[in-house]
Amino acid sequence: MKEHIIITGASKGIGLALAQICIDAGYKVTGTSRNIHTISSENIIPGVHYVNLDLLDLHSISSFCETVPEADILINNAGLSQIGAVEDLRSETVEDLFRINLFGTIQLDSFYARKMRITGRGKILHVSSLAAHTPVPFSSIYAATKAALDAYAFAFRSEMFQFGVFVSNVFFDFVNTSLPQINNDDVTEIYEEQLSASKTKRDKSISDGMSPEYVANQIFKIIGKKSPALYNPIGKRTRRMYFLRRFLPTRLVEYLIRLRYELI
Ligand SMILES: NC(=O)c1ccc[n+]([C@@H]2O[C@H](COP(=O)([O-])OP(=O)(O)OC[C@H]3O[C@@H](n4cnc5c(N)ncnc54)[C@H](OP(=O)(O)O)[C@@H]3O)[C@@H](O)[C@H]2O)c1
Repeated sequence: MKEHIIITGASKGIGLALAQICIDAGYKVTGTSRNIHTISSENIIPGVHYVNLDLLDLHSISSFCETVPEADILINNAGLSQIGAVEDLRSETVEDLFRINLFGTIQLDSFYARKMRITGRGKILHVSSLAAHTPVPFSSIYAATKAALDAYAFAFRSEMFQFGVFVSNVFFDFVNTSLPQINNDDVTEIYEEQLSASKTKRDKSISDGMSPEYVANQIFKIIGKKSPALYNPIGKRTRRMYFLRRFLPTRLVEYLIRLRYELI
């Protein structure tokens, strides 16, 4: 029987590319969007079962779980990024980022973990970010959500391992998608120039980034493994940065980041 994969955020970017690969490989795929009627026609993949899911809305999450009660593989891909200085942050922005990137994901995991435990098999994957390991200025809350996702997965994995259910995270740096960044409404003047320089750098890195198809292919290989690892860096640059972060002194890493962001 075909395995059933749920991919959150399958309307564009990495989720869209992954849905296509999974359909081509013969999986049964459920893909989500906040509003499936707004998915552009060229992004609708024949064979994918589209269901609404808004991770900001608890009712939407429960209704999704009722509509799609079983899955063999859950890929928590939907996410949102952020740009802004901490002193300008509104608490609603912080809450929304945590709701989308972490809390909603945990609610989905919790529901499907129970199902997978009972059947004695399954895989749960989270799309994290290199930002969890090397957080950069003006994107602190995004980094915090992804770092929390990594710590959470570490612990959750051991709970599920005994039941034959694998919990894994993938992470990488820049991918050429339209991943939006929530902005602060007000920007304190002293940060204006730095934020604009930081946004220019980020936009350039995104447009020079890996293709969503490449990243989706790597994710597909990871979910195809019998026993996927906990943390899975994707792309040469990500692997290099991850390695350096673990072995270089933190002060040196901090210095290099400040140098890059001209904050010295
Ligand atoms: N692009 C990068 O450079 C990069 C780097 C590291 C990690 N990542 C991670 O990769 C993942 C995928 O991002 P992407 O780059 O492919 O971005 P993307 O093209 O913007 O796709 C994001 C997906 O998330 C969905 N989404 C947004 N808000 C949502 C909400 N409130 N509830 C449910 N779904 C929501 C969107 O669906 P609708 O708009 O249709 O609702 C969309 O399908 C994210 O977790 C991101 O943090 C990306």
